[in-house]
Amino acid sequence: MKKILAVLLALVLTFALVGCKEDKDPVKDDTETKTETQVETETPEDKSTIDVGIVLPTKDEPRWVQDETRFKEALAERNYSVEILFSQGSSAKEKENVEALLAQGIKVLIICPQDGAAAASAIDLAKSEGVTVISYDRLITDTDSVDYYVTFDSFSVGAAQGQYLVGKATGTGNPLYLYAGAATDNNAFIFFEGAWSVLQPKIADGTFVIKNSSEAVALQDKATLTREEMSKIIGQVTTNWDFSEAKNKSEAHLTNATAADKGKVFILAPNDGTARSIADTYLADPDVTEISITGQDAEKASIQYIIDGIQSMTVFKDVRTLVKDSIDMAVLVLEGKTPETTGTYNNGVIDVKAKQTEVVVVVQSNVKEAIIDSGYYEASEFTGLK
Ligand code: BGC
Repeated sequence: MKKILAVLLALVLTFALVGCKEDKDPVKDDTETKTETQVETETPEDKSTIDVGIVLPTKDEPRWVQDETRFKEALAERNYSVEILFSQGSSAKEKENVEALLAQGIKVLIICPQDGAAAASAIDLAKSEGVTVISYDRLITDTDSVDYYVTFDSFSVGAAQGQYLVGKATGTGNPLYLYAGAATDNNAFIFFEGAWSVLQPKIADGTFVIKNSSEAVALQDKATLTREEMSKIIGQVTTNWDFSEAKNKSEAHLTNATAADKGKVFILAPNDGTARSIADTYLADPDVTEISITGQDAEKASIQYIIDGIQSMTVFKDVRTLVKDSIDMAVLVLEGKTPETTGTYNNGVIDVKAKQTEVVVVVQSNVKEAIIDSGYYEASEFTGLK
């Protein structure tokens, strides 16, 4: 009994946040120091205070704040207790989050890893405690502890980005600047692979000339790249999903380029946050006359950039669907049923059963239809919307 009380006390002190099933707001949100919101009401023997634990990578990118909001909306009507924790870009914090959730007796863990390989040890722990692990948006690699993967069609995301640039290019010799996501994120490879599948033939036929990656130039005759080959390119042009790194790299690329490498430029930017940084940097260069630049996520700020004609496109990944799929999956698991999946993704160790969601390309002409009419955002959140 003493031990149980000590554990309970430690939980309150360390996490200072305990949920219960009768909680009016079933979703707990925490990033930094927690304040006590609810004291355990069940018997100390039962540590099952939270049904589902959700771990998201960072609050510093609007993409993941969007996911949090959508989780809260989706869970408002559900009768399960859930806690959402953010890892703030740290795999160590991510593991602490998983441990904290395990201590609260979660039965399902929905986790988007900061670093796909580094997260393996955290979820191995969860698995050893009988928890069902759902990899959310990013695949956790190098472990057999992932039960399910809910994801968007990431190859299509990259292919749509590449296709947009191809559609905008005329003639030959168009300057192409490549940027990628973080090498620790499996998605960064899939996005790049998708983009390369469309861009490479147009590099090979001279439509585009790569201006910022000697590794990509060395591989430009290869229609498909191995992971190792992609690693070489990504190693040179990664943004690490970081706005400042995207800006610094763009500045360096523009400094190294001649005026002839500029003019009307084509930029593969991997997501919206980095696209805005890169677009701002290129447009500040007097030798750049026009940019075609990609993105993904339909972040509010990028929708405004598209309306304003600064960012050219985004790939809209409707987070409401991803959230619904993962919650539905979690609920089925809690009910002892087996969720339906649509395919598999290999994570280096096993084929993980996956549910995949399609994506939609958004440009200035369909912003209203895709983003506003679908109820994703309100028209009043933007200016100049036609
Ligand atoms: C997600 C993107 C996101 C990026 C950076 C990727 O894994 O799929 O939507 O923009 O991470 O956070």
